[in-house]
Amino acid sequence: MAKEYTKEQLNYFRICYVTTDVLADGLREIFKIEWDKLYKSTKGEWRDDPRNGFDFYIGESPRNQRKNAHLLATMRNGNREEWDCTMLFYAILYSDCVGPSLASTVRKNVDDLRNFRNTEFAHIPQGRLSDMDFKNAISKVDVTFQALGLPTVKIQEIQNQATFPTKHLLNILKEVDNVLTDQLRKEVPSFCILPPKPAHDIGSRDREVEKIAQQLKQLKKANCNRLSYSYISGNPGSGKSQLAGLVAQRFYEEEWSIGDKISHLKMLIEAKINYYTSWLMIVDNVTTLSSVHVHLPQSGNEAWARGQLLITTQDTTSIPLESSLVNHVSVSKGMEPDDASCLLAKLSGITDGELGAGVAKNWIISLLP
Ligand SMILES: Nc1ncnc2c1ncn2[C@@H]1O[C@H](COP(=O)(O)OP(=O)(O)OP(=O)(O)O)[C@@H](O)[C@H]1O
Ligand SMILES: [Mg+2]
Repeated sequence: MAKEYTKEQLNYFRICYVTTDVLADGLREIFKIEWDKLYKSTKGEWRDDPRNGFDFYIGESPRNQRKNAHLLATMRNGNREEWDCTMLFYAILYSDCVGPSLASTVRKNVDDLRNFRNTEFAHIPQGRLSDMDFKNAISKVDVTFQALGLPTVKIQEIQNQATFPTKHLLNILKEVDNVLTDQLRKEVPSFCILPPKPAHDIGSRDREVEKIAQQLKQLKKANCNRLSYSYISGNPGSGKSQLAGLVAQRFYEEEWSIGDKISHLKMLIEAKINYYTSWLMIVDNVTTLSSVHVHLPQSGNEAWARGQLLITTQDTTSIPLESSLVNHVSVSKGMEPDDASCLLAKLSGITDGELGAGVAKNWIISLLP
């Protein structure tokens, strides 16, 4: 019997289904239309046969063949059913065969779908979606499908779908997992290129940098979704470029502090971790527990509820007292004598029990600080 889901979980599954199955079907359709437009009279209509796959493959530049070898290994069979969204986006937008000849409206709409899948969808957290967010998300796909002239029947149907056969759902969630992994890999790295520094040391102009940084923040707050401008003026050589560099350096460090990176990573993990019935995460080599604590998932947070953290630290004094939630093991005394004997025997190849135990005892003592 199908499992009962909450409305918000269903919303999430529906949007997963649209983003994986429905979207891929639409892209398959677009690819065939574009291919046939270009090659029906020369290389032949796209019929999902190996001949088509071969034609597509040899139509790609050596660079694309190299760069996309992992995708082309499947694509060259010619069967679009086997092509996932990554392959389809490549085939339509970036391939040499089809990409350059796309009409600008098709390119834009397919790219909108790509953005929806890779950015918006990948950031939907925790396997739940409110009615409002669901409606917004699905209408984006719906509008784009219409603009591309694709049938929207499945999109309409899914809005009323109340159950998912377990096997189908597992397939959808597996595909979702691929999307999220892709996204995690491709997450745009931050970068910082500053005006060239002079050969000598430069003064940090802390107060001015602070002032400009604050002004930038205020400007941003007042213009949430609009580009704003800040000018630094002055005579030749008065230090404008260097000052701008100091401000940018500070902006970069603030915007992309380790804290932000951890939060971002946590958000991406949060979207996936819900699928695991149990997990264990190691937080290794914590120097100061108090500074790391804010970054750890909190015990009351439902998204992380099914897991456990295993933390290693030398900061013994800051470990919370043992309780129903907290356990603490100290290894300051070293290894258990039996384990040490076993290890010694293993390392030395000598199995003299008594001798081993004696050596192990001294060995443990000598390992203690
Ligand atoms: N914060 C600083 N500390 C030390 N030296 C500085 C500092 N800012 C500027 N200088 C010195 O002044 C020189 C000129 O600085 P900068 O290039 O920033 O001036 P500018 O106002 O941008 O000039 P221009 O109007 O020609 O673009 C630098 O090469 C450096 O030697
Ligand atoms: Mg300058």
